[in-house]
Amino acid sequence: MSLLDLAPVIPVVVIEDAETAVPLARALVAGGLPVIEVTLRTPAAREAIARIADEVPEATVGAGTIRTTDDISASVAAGARFLVSPGTTLSLVEALDSSGVPYLPGAATVSEVMALVERGIKELKFFPAEAAGGVPYLKAMAGPLPDVRFCPTGGIRVNTAPDYLALPNVGCVGGTWLTPADAMAAGDWARVEKLASEAAALR
Ligand code: 3PG
Repeated sequence: MSLLDLAPVIPVVVIEDAETAVPLARALVAGGLPVIEVTLRTPAAREAIARIADEVPEATVGAGTIRTTDDISASVAAGARFLVSPGTTLSLVEALDSSGVPYLPGAATVSEVMALVERGIKELKFFPAEAAGGVPYLKAMAGPLPDVRFCPTGGIRVNTAPDYLALPNVGCVGGTWLTPADAMAAGDWARVEKLASEAAALR
């Protein structure tokens, strides 16, 4: 089954303290969002991925903000079950190809998308979605590239997600709005679960 079809929304999470990883993942799963992208933007990220992989088997945890081949090997070693990159270089896509796990390489333009399609990749992250043209850009790409599907991420919120999810070339969307920094710092998992259940009901 495709990564894009597991849930309507992939929470993109920034974890400052690995101790929060397991309760956070449980709240997201309880709210109906089992696919979780932990961004490699904090020193705690790899430990957070490992803990979720070990202790929350109902979750499908992956690593985001993949920029280097080292990011790939460290994430897979930590237990990441998928990989997401904000953009794509030739060396990065070759390493993603060899990683042994599913991945969503980032692209923001028609030419970037076409370069990935040449390699047989037809499921991508569209990033930064809002800044790169949002819903109208995705609609325009569906004409010449009808066989490519996206997970748009970047600037999407609960009120704009439905417009993306209504597009035939969008499988799911990603975003940070489900895990506000203040809720994370306060350990307000009930709030995270509520945000997740609202998002899970979007489609
Ligand atoms: C990403 O890496 O996908 C973006 O940073 C998502 O963040 P946003 O939902 O806050 O735009």
